[in-house]
Amino acid sequence: MAIHIPEEKILEIISAANISDIISERVVLKKAGKDLVGLCPFHSEKTPSFTVSPAKQIFHCFGCGAGGNVFSFLMKHDGIGFVDAVTSVARRYGIDLPTNDMSLSQKRTISERQQLLDLNKRVMAFFTFQLEDRIIGEKPRAYLSKRGFSQEIIHRFGLGFAPNEWDLLVRFFRKINVPQSLAEKTGLIIPGKNQRFYDRFRNRVMFPIFDVSRQIIGFGGRVLDDAKPKYLNSPETVIYSKSHSLFGVQEARNRARETGCVYIVEGYFDLLAMHQHGVTNTVASLGTALTAEHVRLLRRGFAQKAFLLFDSDEAGLKAAHRSVSLFMNEAMDAEVIVLPRGYDPDSYIFAFGRDAFDALSEKAVGMVAFLIESAVNANGLSMEGKVRIITELTGPLSEIKDSVARSIYIKYLSERIGVDESAIAGKIDASVRRAASQHSAAGHASRQEQSASQTASTGENIISPE
Ligand code: GTP
Ligand code: MN
Repeated sequence: MAIHIPEEKILEIISAANISDIISERVVLKKAGKDLVGLCPFHSEKTPSFTVSPAKQIFHCFGCGAGGNVFSFLMKHDGIGFVDAVTSVARRYGIDLPTNDMSLSQKRTISERQQLLDLNKRVMAFFTFQLEDRIIGEKPRAYLSKRGFSQEIIHRFGLGFAPNEWDLLVRFFRKINVPQSLAEKTGLIIPGKNQRFYDRFRNRVMFPIFDVSRQIIGFGGRVLDDAKPKYLNSPETVIYSKSHSLFGVQEARNRARETGCVYIVEGYFDLLAMHQHGVTNTVASLGTALTAEHVRLLRRGFAQKAFLLFDSDEAGLKAAHRSVSLFMNEAMDAEVIVLPRGYDPDSYIFAFGRDAFDALSEKAVGMVAFLIESAVNANGLSMEGKVRIITELTGPLSEIKDSVARSIYIKYLSERIGVDESAIAGKIDASVRRAASQHSAAGHASRQEQSASQTASTGENIISPE
């Protein structure tokens, strides 16, 4: 359905907005003459070719050709439509959109995203209210304080409580007149039998999940006892995508930019414990494997270097195998911190304190070195061991796109285990070639798809005559 926002309104919004403020929330920008430059969020690159011109209020990437005004940036970066981009900028600068002459259904479409974000804010307030209730909140408050969390940290992260009832939130939505279709799109209520709905989160400590602009995009919840599942998260919704979101980004970004590094932990409480002990440049991956989007978000908008923290050698090893190429391909330095057996970041930092944690992070090792040392430890340096080491490392090493970096690691590996460099290189190169030929076979189809979806998502092209 076409929605008309008057031209003069759009101009008013454009002139009130500052493109550098909006892009700065998502990309670290440095001054370069009259312009600002940073790493392009729309393609992989190691030196900045993404340029923002405050004078012209536009951005342009000399690497991939992306460019446009503040709305095109938001559409492309946040994956939203033109009207949502306009609405969100208008909101941010306190400009009212003329909704009077719109039909009710237009009002609904115009801002489904905004409505969901607004609703999440009310839901967070609702959960916080329950946590603070003298009687209802008693157990969850006791739980949080038993785990050592301060009032201040609970407040800073907007923690709440979903009481042990079937449909408290369902009734809350009804009371504040939320249309049923919108209520369902929050993912916070679930259809049951006989058209009845019930709450997704019951009897859980609630964590709002924010994006970098401090909008609430989803929730996570933990039980107070040993019930299963221990954690629940919002499902994927119009505003929440697991593979693009990290918990704690809203609190971690500034410190990460100041220090140039960011800590990545796995759990909600790991994150709270780190922040409570002053390691405020920490984000959490929420139990899912890190994705290329996560790494790009952190590298573009947070820091050059990541420290990965894992509960155990095995978990760390698995994650390192999976993600070594993600970091390498975004030119993000990654080091691994391995905690003593039986500890996670939460229990470690509460047990041993901040100084011990800092000492441990001094001993962090680069991800590839960590992979190689772990493989050596696991397999030993017998002939068979060496064969297994090379087999294990072929996958992760061949995924490193930069051939210079790859050959540096191959040389290191060859010296470490005393196997001829060219033999290892031969095996890894063969694997690179195999992957490349598979890729180019699949490439044609995916390029077509990509260009079709680009046309569909850049609003400007929609009105072109053909
Ligand atoms: P605590 O026991 O509260 O300290 O949690 P933890 O973070 O130490 O738990 P664990 O190491 O088991 O899990 C790490 C992260 O994985 C959690 O913070 C969750 O984000 C996620 N996770 C763990 N269990 C579940 C589950 O049952 N379901 C889902 N969806 N996620 C889980
Ligand atoms: Mn834990």
